[in-house]
Amino acid sequence: MKLAILGGGGFRVPYVYQALLRDRGSRRIEQVWLHDSDEGRLDAMAAVLATLADGVPDAPKVSTTVDPDRALEGADFVFAAVRVGGLAGRVCDERVALDLDVLGQETTGPGGLAYGLRTIPVMLDIAHRVKALAPDAYVINFTNPAGMITEAMQGVLGDRVLGICDTPSGLGTRVAAALGLDPARVRLDYVGLNHLGWMRRILHDGVDVLPALLADDDLLGSLEEGVVFGREWLRDLGVIPNEYLYYYYFNREAVRATLDAPQTRGEFLLKQQSAFYERIAQASGGAALELWRETVRSRSASYMAEMKGAETGQALDEHTAIDPVDEGYAGVALSVMGAISRNERATMILNVRNGSTVAALPPDAVVEVPVTVDANGVHPLVLDQPDLHQTGLMQQVKAVERLTISAALTGSRTDAAKAFGLHPLVDSAAVGRRLLDGYIDRIPEVAAVFANGGRS
Ligand code: G6P
Ligand code: MN
Repeated sequence: MKLAILGGGGFRVPYVYQALLRDRGSRRIEQVWLHDSDEGRLDAMAAVLATLADGVPDAPKVSTTVDPDRALEGADFVFAAVRVGGLAGRVCDERVALDLDVLGQETTGPGGLAYGLRTIPVMLDIAHRVKALAPDAYVINFTNPAGMITEAMQGVLGDRVLGICDTPSGLGTRVAAALGLDPARVRLDYVGLNHLGWMRRILHDGVDVLPALLADDDLLGSLEEGVVFGREWLRDLGVIPNEYLYYYYFNREAVRATLDAPQTRGEFLLKQQSAFYERIAQASGGAALELWRETVRSRSASYMAEMKGAETGQALDEHTAIDPVDEGYAGVALSVMGAISRNERATMILNVRNGSTVAALPPDAVVEVPVTVDANGVHPLVLDQPDLHQTGLMQQVKAVERLTISAALTGSRTDAAKAFGLHPLVDSAAVGRRLLDGYIDRIPEVAAVFANGGRS
C-alpha cells in the first residue's frame, strides 16, 4: 500500500516510519511519499529515515516531493500533519493573546482559533485533492487544531477522514503504568472534544479502578495529571481531565505563568528546530539520526507541569521524557491502518463524526470518543452522556469552533469576531475583537482569509 505523509519534513515523521518498520502484517505499507513545501526539511527527514531503514530488507521505500498531488495520487492512506505559517505563526498565536493578557497557547483559546482560521482553507484544498486523486483513501489527520480541522474536512470527505490526538491514549498509558496494569486489558471511558475531554472510568477487565487511583496519594502524585491539576481538584471532580483542561480550570495561573516565563513554548521550539534543520543539513547518515534523537530527547515532555515550577517539571520529565522510539501518535495511526486494511478490529479514542453519540451536540460535529475501527470503518461506542458542566463546556467550545470554520470558509469577520468573543477563555467581547485584529495584523495567512471582503 501507499502512504502519503503531508508535512513530511516534520519532526514526528521518524516515529511513524519506525512504527511502519515494525509492522509485519500481510497488507502493509510498501511506499511512503513525504510531501512538504520545504525541500530542506524533506532532505533532513529522508536522511533520518534512510538510517532507520538500514539493514531492514523489506523497509518501505521513501520518496519525497514538493508536489502534493504526486504524494496523494493513488494513496491508500494519507497522514496529514501540516503547520500552516510554521512555528513563527505559532509564536504569533501565543504572543498576540498574551499581549492582551489572555491565554497564549497553540491549540487552546484564541491562539487555536487563529491557527484554525489559517489552516482550514489549506486542509480543505487538500481534502478536495484527496477526493480527486485518492478517492478510496482514508485521511488520518494530526493537523491541529485537530477537532476543528477534521470537522471541516469531513464536509468534503465524510467519514473517510478521522482525527488523532495522542493525549487520550497517553493518559491511558500513564494511568495503566501507575497502577501496574496491562494496557491491553484496560478500556477508557472518555468523552469530549479534542483537547477538552474527561476520563470518567478506567475499566480493567470491566472493573472501574479510577476510584482506587483517586484515593491513593502516592499514585495520584506520580501521575502527570496529579501534578498539573493537584490531587484535591481531581478528587473534587471525580474524573481525570485531559491535560489541556488545565488552561480552563487554572486559566489565571496558566496566563500568569506564561507571561512570567522567559519564552513561550513556540519560541523555544522555533529556536530548537531552526538549529536542528540547520545542523542536519550538514550531517549525513547516522549523524542525522543521532541529531534527531538528541533533539527529541531535549524537548520537555511535560511543559504544563513545568509551568508549575521548574522542580516538578524536571522531576516528571525524568519519568516521562519523550522517548525517541515512543509510539504516541504513530502507534494509534498504525492501529487505525491495521484495523481498516486488515480488519484487525481495535478500540481507540479518535476524533470522529458525532452522529448520536453525544445527544447535546449536532450529528455532524466532530467529537473525541472511544470508537471501534474495522474494515467497514469507524463505529463510535455507545456511552454515558457527559454531565452538565462537561456538556456546557463542550457546547460552548463547539459553537466557537463552528463559527471559526464558517469564518475560514466564507471570510466572514462577523463569525470570526463572534468566535473570539464567545470563547470561554476570552473574558470580554472587546478583547475578542482586538484579538481578531491582532491576528490579522500579525499573520499574513490569517489576513488572507478576510482579504477582498471574504470569499463565498
Ligand atoms: C500534544 C498534543 C498535540 C500538540 C503537542 C504539542 O502531543 O496532543 O496536539 O501539538 O502536544 O507539543 P509541542 O512539543 O509542539 O509543544
Ligand atoms: Mn493533540
